[in-house]
Amino acid sequence: MSEPRTALVTGGARGIGAEICRQLADRGLRVLVGARKREAAEEVCRAIGPAALPLALDVGSPLSVTEAVREAGELLGGGGIDVLVNNAGVSLDGEMRPPYLDEEVLLSTLDVNLLGAWRVAEAVVPGMVRAGYGRVVNLTSSYGSLALMDSGRHPAYRVSKTALNALTRMLAGELAGTGVLVNAADPGWTRSGMGGAAAPRGPEEGADTPVWLATLPEGDGTTGGLFAERRPLPW
Ligand SMILES: NC(=O)c1ccc[n+]([C@@H]2O[C@H](COP(=O)([O-])OP(=O)(O)OC[C@H]3O[C@@H](n4cnc5c(N)ncnc54)[C@H](OP(=O)(O)O)[C@@H]3O)[C@@H](O)[C@H]2O)c1
Repeated sequence: MSEPRTALVTGGARGIGAEICRQLADRGLRVLVGARKREAAEEVCRAIGPAALPLALDVGSPLSVTEAVREAGELLGGGGIDVLVNNAGVSLDGEMRPPYLDEEVLLSTLDVNLLGAWRVAEAVVPGMVRAGYGRVVNLTSSYGSLALMDSGRHPAYRVSKTALNALTRMLAGELAGTGVLVNAADPGWTRSGMGGAAAPRGPEEGADTPVWLATLPEGDGTTGGLFAERRPLPW
């Protein structure tokens, strides 16, 4: 039997991320559950079973990213990371809207939502290219779609997701023909710490499109796309 594929999910200890971990393990993948607090990741791993391994990972810290990828190498005993789900995200906006700028909120949001995903991709994608196989899924939001942008609500969050969409396109272009597929997934308004209790979708539904993109079969050419409910969404 061939080795199972290995996925790294950032922000995997709660919300949509924890559900993505569960669903990927259900599909037979080995899952590295990334979380800022190792104990939180361990708890999710206990619930999932032996397919899940905890990994301390703060995507806001370049040092933590380097250390986590080194630890992942040890845990995997030479095997690599085949699937990266950049799920970790923050929504820090208050009521302030353009033209007013809360610089601190904007920079903190970009640090996690854009740079966090970029840092982990930088650490993980070269291994995928060497292996000739990879799936990268960036958790974005319809709030980041320029085509749908109609107000200045949640400005830092929106700009961060628009920028993450741009990273998705650039990375997909750079990796064309390597076997590494890169896509963005909008989970929809989902019940979680960020989405709140009133959201219409449960975590199972929120995780569906990201998991679909993370497990695109060999030979599938879907890359450089933005999807919600498994259907294209305008950029
Ligand atoms: N829920 C929605 O309605 C919705 C809609 C559209 C898009 N999204 C996107 O979906 C993704 C998951 O959101 P969610 O609803 O599950 O949010 P959530 O419940 O607030 O969870 C956010 C996750 O991100 C992690 N995180 C935050 N900063 C981090 C950092 N510096 N390093 C590592 N992990 C960090 C959190 O870890 P800690 O436990 O350590 O804080 C947590 O696991 C996000 O990218 C979000 O923007 C959500």
